[in-house]
Amino acid sequence: MNPNVRPETMARITTPALANAFIEEQIAAVRAQVGDKKVLLALSGGVDSSVVAALLIKAIGKQLVCVHVNHGLMRKNESENVVEVFQNQLDANLIYVDATDRFLDLLAGVSDPERKRKIIGAEFINVFVDEARKLEGIEYLAQGTIYPDILESIKQAEGKKAVKSHHNVGGLPEDLKFELVEPIKLLYKDEVRVVGEALGLPHAMVYRQPFPGPGLGVRCLGAITRDRLHALREADAILREEFDLNGLAEKVWQYFVVIPDIKSVGVKDDSRYEGWPAIIRAVNTKDAMSATIEEIPYAVLHKITARITNEVEGINRVLYDLTPKPTGTIEWE
Ligand code: XMP
Repeated sequence: MNPNVRPETMARITTPALANAFIEEQIAAVRAQVGDKKVLLALSGGVDSSVVAALLIKAIGKQLVCVHVNHGLMRKNESENVVEVFQNQLDANLIYVDATDRFLDLLAGVSDPERKRKIIGAEFINVFVDEARKLEGIEYLAQGTIYPDILESIKQAEGKKAVKSHHNVGGLPEDLKFELVEPIKLLYKDEVRVVGEALGLPHAMVYRQPFPGPGLGVRCLGAITRDRLHALREADAILREEFDLNGLAEKVWQYFVVIPDIKSVGVKDDSRYEGWPAIIRAVNTKDAMSATIEEIPYAVLHKITARITNEVEGINRVLYDLTPKPTGTIEWE
């Protein structure tokens, strides 16, 4: 039996009872695989790595060492949340690395999206490897691989071209050879969420909208600057708050703010006020291959516009992107 192929007899995990059975099964499997050895995990705060972390904390407790790399491109309060949930609530063995300066220094002046992605992906591995080298006696690496990742890599091995280069923690150096622990690799995303809730993770974490690996780095268009990145993070937080308040957060698949590297003339307190535009994107999709836009009520758009332009330094206009995919991709870069 190929361990990377989901058996046809495997029931879809749709209920807490089925999730609990899966969790028990995986706890036993992980314990049998790793014994009393230590396991390393890159914990991004995304759904998949969070569920793996919660599962492994249950299975092996402090034998799991989680590393959270804050690349400075996280959304507002996201890294703080990871620390709160995993360190404070679940008592995990968590190493928190604030690598903001490392990433932003490397990205200074770089405007090509694919180069930005490559820099962020490579530096992510560098920071993670630096941490891994400081630790001793680690033989295993846990990963939040899920079944669509396996299906996607089969497609890529067959020579189909990706539109954008996504990254995860592949590509560790030769001398850091770990055996992999991938407890959710046969699960689809909806099943991962059911398992996450059964493990007691916060609802907002389990139903978190997809967030790209390079984070706000591909939403702060062109060469990233700290001031524009700060404005983006604040504007994005307002958008998320208003979507929560207006019942859109659970309804819309992915929604975010993009800030291009242009300024327009505006007026504030009777004076000329040059600022960036904040572009709102809110899309619905099943598989991210194509997407439609959400028809946000005008009243909500007005409120978001007023809040962003009043509360965020440096932004003087708000635009709503009406473009489906195709022709636009979901992200602007
Ligand atoms: P696009 O922009 O290609 O996005 O229509 C499709 C989905 O993929 C996400 N995305 C990424 N995810 N690394 C990731 O992990 C990336 O570099 C990346 N680029 C896009 C995007 O947010 C959307 O959900």
